[in-house]
Amino acid sequence: MVKKKACVFISGSGTNLRSIIKNSRDYNFPINISLVVSNNKYAKGIFYARKFSIPYICINSNRLEFEKIILNQLVKKKIKLICLAGFMKILSKNFIRNFKGKIINIHPSLLPKYKGLNTFQRVLKSNEKLTGCTVHFVNEKLDGGKIILKKKVNISDQDNIKTLKKKVQFEEYIAYSSAIRKIYN
Ligand code: GRF
Repeated sequence: MVKKKACVFISGSGTNLRSIIKNSRDYNFPINISLVVSNNKYAKGIFYARKFSIPYICINSNRLEFEKIILNQLVKKKIKLICLAGFMKILSKNFIRNFKGKIINIHPSLLPKYKGLNTFQRVLKSNEKLTGCTVHFVNEKLDGGKIILKKKVNISDQDNIKTLKKKVQFEEYIAYSSAIRKIYN
């Protein structure tokens, strides 16, 4: 099986990156991570790129400059899929159009509910009994693209931001790779 070349964009701890890299080692997994991009040189996730010998770039400049450099690299490396995993920069409409249908993201809620930031806080404040995560295509609307896959998580009365985040992220690691498999099936 010829694997498609993919890139993961991160800004922080990179635990989703770690899980995608691990799954990508599977012979039947449809993609190979050929590049990791971070907009933050202190992102912990860069450690996983190093650990698994994956080329990475850190670019801490304005959006225009960032996207220019990245676009160049993506074309050069023949990247066919961009996975956003805790990437905190908003991509320009132009960049998204250039990669239409080729950028996916993971969001820690059951979209279309709780788009945007501070999801766990808002979910708990609203006394929800159920939340989860969503993998979706990225379009020009924030957390608004076509949904690929969702995974549910039950919320107990004892849950707080920390415990809920842990539970949701556990499901994220499964969801992200399942979504990638689903795209290419
Ligand atoms: C994840 O919870 C994801 O849903 C959100 O950002 C977080 C990234 O975590 N978009 P990590 O960097 O993969 O550990």
